Amino acid sequence: MTTLLPPARTAHLAAAAALLLASPWVLAQDANLARNLAATCANCHGTNGQARGDMKPLAGMSADKIVALFTDYRSGAQPSSIMGQISKGYTDAQIKLVAGYFAAQPAKK
Ligand code: HEC
Repeated sequence: MTTLLPPARTAHLAAAAALLLASPWVLAQDANLARNLAATCANCHGTNGQARGDMKPLAGMSADKIVALFTDYRSGAQPSSIMGQISKGYTDAQIKLVAGYFAAQPAKK
């Protein structure tokens, strides 16, 4: 037992290690969460926002624009057939993640 650090110091180190480990972990979590949330839009807006046919592509649209359109659909400020209903199922934090994900996708050529 004499080789162990005093409890207070061990706790301190553990806290420091947790902090070091936490940030990349959180980022990885966010990236996965963003992708999973974006997948819920894929049925209509295409995989990774690369829409087919007449559907509006989301890939490469600025995150601010996606958030703005999405929140307008949710509030009803922007009339819509479908998005008004869909958008009610997402929190502000979720839509920010999704918007960031689509903005980072290469725009369809
Ligand atoms: C069931 C099909 C469907 C799903 C799922 C869907 N959308 Fe849409 N989206 C539409 C339609 C249809 C429109 C055109 C507006 C309308 O009539 O609702 C649209 C329009 C949009 C627009 C405006 C595009 C533009 O250029 O004006 C944005 C932004 C958008 N959707 C984001 C999303 C996001 C983000 C998700 C996933 C969280 C999503 N949509 C899921 C059908 C869908």
